[in-house]
Amino acid sequence: MLSYRKGLGDMPSYDVVERPWEIKINANECNMNLPPLVEDRLMARFSHVAFNRYPNEEYDLLREQIADNFSLQKENVMLGSGSSEIIEKLFYAFGGSGEQKIVFPDPSFSMYPIYAKAAEAAAVPVVLDGEDYHLDAEQFVKAVKEAKASLAVVCNPNNPTGNGMKVSEIESIAQNIDCAFLVDEAYIEFYGQSAAGLLRKYPNLIVARTFSKAYGLASARVGYMLASKEITEMVSKAYMPYHMNVLSLVTADIVYQMRHEYVPRIQMMIAERKRMSEQLKTLAGFKVYPSETNFVLVKYERAAELNAYLESKGIGIRSFGSKPGLVNCLRISMGTREENDLWFDAIKVFTEGRA
Ligand SMILES: Cc1ncc(COP(=O)(O)O)c(C=O)c1O
Repeated sequence: MLSYRKGLGDMPSYDVVERPWEIKINANECNMNLPPLVEDRLMARFSHVAFNRYPNEEYDLLREQIADNFSLQKENVMLGSGSSEIIEKLFYAFGGSGEQKIVFPDPSFSMYPIYAKAAEAAAVPVVLDGEDYHLDAEQFVKAVKEAKASLAVVCNPNNPTGNGMKVSEIESIAQNIDCAFLVDEAYIEFYGQSAAGLLRKYPNLIVARTFSKAYGLASARVGYMLASKEITEMVSKAYMPYHMNVLSLVTADIVYQMRHEYVPRIQMMIAERKRMSEQLKTLAGFKVYPSETNFVLVKYERAAELNAYLESKGIGIRSFGSKPGLVNCLRISMGTREENDLWFDAIKVFTEGRA
């Protein structure tokens, strides 16, 4: 008989519907592959990889480069296999029993409650009001204090709602809580208002970032966190040795060195988000939420039918069905300009009853 860990059977899984979509706009990925100059540099770099060695040097080179950019030390930087690994390990490090409480907004990144459960910590969701999904800093602080939380998490800008918090609001939380405080900045390049500048002032603050979104490296799985030396040292105990492979490390290293190549792309994605938000607002029955990311959240009474129609056309978006707080909500990641015109036309045909 197979005897699994207690609670594993009840553990929810990440529930994105995947298939070979014609237009894939369901996972907030970047819609373009590597810029040609980056690709050339990367291919040349691959021929120098020491496949026979554990990737110590490459790991430290990337940490140093990231640390330099934030005027920090490499000891303040921890890498992860995507920011997913970082978040999971943070939940592990600050979890471990029902007395360890992890507070996060809801709706937010769907993996927070799952990681909390995996870490055997108690999840304390702070419910956002569906009108505008604004996170009230005071209410959040109150929840953290009441729970005597070990870890507080905010996602800025927030996925899947798209809205951003001001740095001053993040600071007002940091000022008033004394547990570890993670700001998940997976979409920060589309917003620009980072909490990284607060790290020196608030030693309990942790900033997590990813190469998966603005830098289009979702396949390589690279993320990083910035935190005090004490936090990175403790959290690193939760990682296995050599948890990142050399191909991902050198890829991220070159992308980071050449990050200026991405500036026009990021601007283009922001421009497309603005353009598509305006277009979506013209559709009858659509509520379009403001977004600071590379995706847009909409609410539409016939969301389930619309989603099924788009699926039948090979267009994959993220539908939240009847998930509390997100009833009839659909999240649409920005594709290329051509793709955006195509999915918008399909939605328009449906809403005008021409499907
Ligand atoms: C808010 C947020 N945080 C973290 C992640 C994890 O990204 P990755 O593991 O690719 O870095 C995602 C991915 O969608 C996300 O939306």
